[in-house]
Amino acid sequence: MEELQVLITRAQIAAKVAEIAERITADFAGESVVLIGVLKGATIFLADLARQIKLDATFDFIAVSSYGNTRQHSGEVRLVKDVDQSMAGKNIILVEDILDTGLTLTYIRNLLLAHQPKCFKIAALLDKVSRRTEAIDADYVGFVIPDEFVVGYGLDFAERYRNLPDICVLDSKRA
Ligand code: IMP
Ligand code: MG
Repeated sequence: MEELQVLITRAQIAAKVAEIAERITADFAGESVVLIGVLKGATIFLADLARQIKLDATFDFIAVSSYGNTRQHSGEVRLVKDVDQSMAGKNIILVEDILDTGLTLTYIRNLLLAHQPKCFKIAALLDKVSRRTEAIDADYVGFVIPDEFVVGYGLDFAERYRNLPDICVLDSKRA
């Protein structure tokens, strides 16, 4: 069994999500937004965030594969599921669980910018700044975290632990 240590509690997450939702609500006052979740890790963050954004909002989802079942980034990003609708002229808020090297979001950003949206913003719950290799940052960041492998609140290791309510560090010596 792997060992888990709580890094960010559900209460800390809830407070931060409320704060980000308030900022987005203010930044897009009077406008409509499309929340695009990156499957599957962002689903829980998107669900909580969306319910606190007081704007006219729709959802879409995109899926890419990059990590497989290991912790190492393959360096390749492959599109598994595109958005369902054209994003031309839309206010896009891309919702992602974690920004790590930045390879995934760079790929998705380029894909979505080709739609010529009105506005493109990134909301990332977690940010491992020290691991970044690409020139990309999130507009809305929940927590900057150290270079540890974390699970819970949508984040997985080999598809497990997504349902943990807190964000936990997975023991680095084991899995
Ligand atoms: P990037 O392309 O290196 O920025 O990686 C982003 C993706 O890697 C995220 O969407 C996550 O799926 C995955 N990832 C990166 N770090 C972690 C982690 O600590 N736990 C779980 N997934 C992670
Ligand atoms: Mg992910």
